[in-house]
Amino acid sequence: MKLRHFITTQDYSRAEIDALLEQAARFKHAPTGKQLVGKSIALLFFNPSMRTRTSFELGAFQLGGHAVVLSPGKDAWPIEFELGKVMDAEAEEHIVEVAQVLSRYVDLIAVRAFPKLQNWALDRQDRLIKAFAHHATVPIINMETITHPCQELAHALVMKEHLGQLEKKKYVLTWTYHPRPLNTAVANSALLMATRMGMDVTLLCPTPEYVLDPRYMELGRLNAKRHGGSLTVSHHIEETYRGAHMVYAKSWGALPYCGRWEQEKPVRDSYKHFMVDKAKMALTEHARFSHCLPLRRNVKASDAVMDAAYCIAIDEAENRIPVQKAVMGMLTGRI
Ligand code: CP
Repeated sequence: MKLRHFITTQDYSRAEIDALLEQAARFKHAPTGKQLVGKSIALLFFNPSMRTRTSFELGAFQLGGHAVVLSPGKDAWPIEFELGKVMDAEAEEHIVEVAQVLSRYVDLIAVRAFPKLQNWALDRQDRLIKAFAHHATVPIINMETITHPCQELAHALVMKEHLGQLEKKKYVLTWTYHPRPLNTAVANSALLMATRMGMDVTLLCPTPEYVLDPRYMELGRLNAKRHGGSLTVSHHIEETYRGAHMVYAKSWGALPYCGRWEQEKPVRDSYKHFMVDKAKMALTEHARFSHCLPLRRNVKASDAVMDAAYCIAIDEAENRIPVQKAVMGMLTGRI
């Protein structure tokens, strides 16, 4: 039987996504259990994390399982991913051995590996997590590469909790400023999940250069068509916020500038006014606001927005634990 991974939510039907969300909601009422007794997960972090690491470790623990956290290149050996490479540089071992050895030790392998953002044509292939999926003999979970499917589930769950039925609700995914060019993963994921839920989605960004990778725009359009929603792009702030039910913020680097970010910097710096503030939120239909976190206050969103009752970012972060329990339970066949 073909091994099933959790690398993108697009590999799962809407019914399967709904089942994961329902299971996660049950875990919120009954946080502890025995579903993962005797099971273990390796959490491999090639990039920093606060929420993902904590929520996976606690989620496994609360269901009787065990998590091992590894940071290759820091507390574990640096890994080579290229096949046929003469390994005479920094890497001490190859993904071929790492994936096989971990597969003998644990039941699940979770990987965080952000794109390097130097060559988008390469980055968009998501080769590192695909190499794990190819060489491992246990399921792989994406903890954020060029999408962030666990965040997607937490986001969908928090929206259901606060907005109820999501179909046809007006959803704004707004680009916000950040001093550095950030990964597009959460933005890609937000677009995938909101369209999957049949919402009327608008991607608000400064210029066409900030539109997301065509792969995710196309998937978003297909999702919207299939689930009765829509996907449009806007560069007009006030018009887009007006009547919104949900505002989700994220910063990302404009992909046409990938690898020459010094040229994008002055462009990005001229759009600091995209920060989410009270005046923009006042245009909405009593919208909720959220962000995946971490968030730079008064850069991406103002203090007033982050401290408002309509900000549900903390609830979304809390939801990482139950949704990941549902994913671990599903992949180990225990749920
Ligand atoms: N949202 C999220 O994945 O947070 P961390 O980067 O802290 O894990």
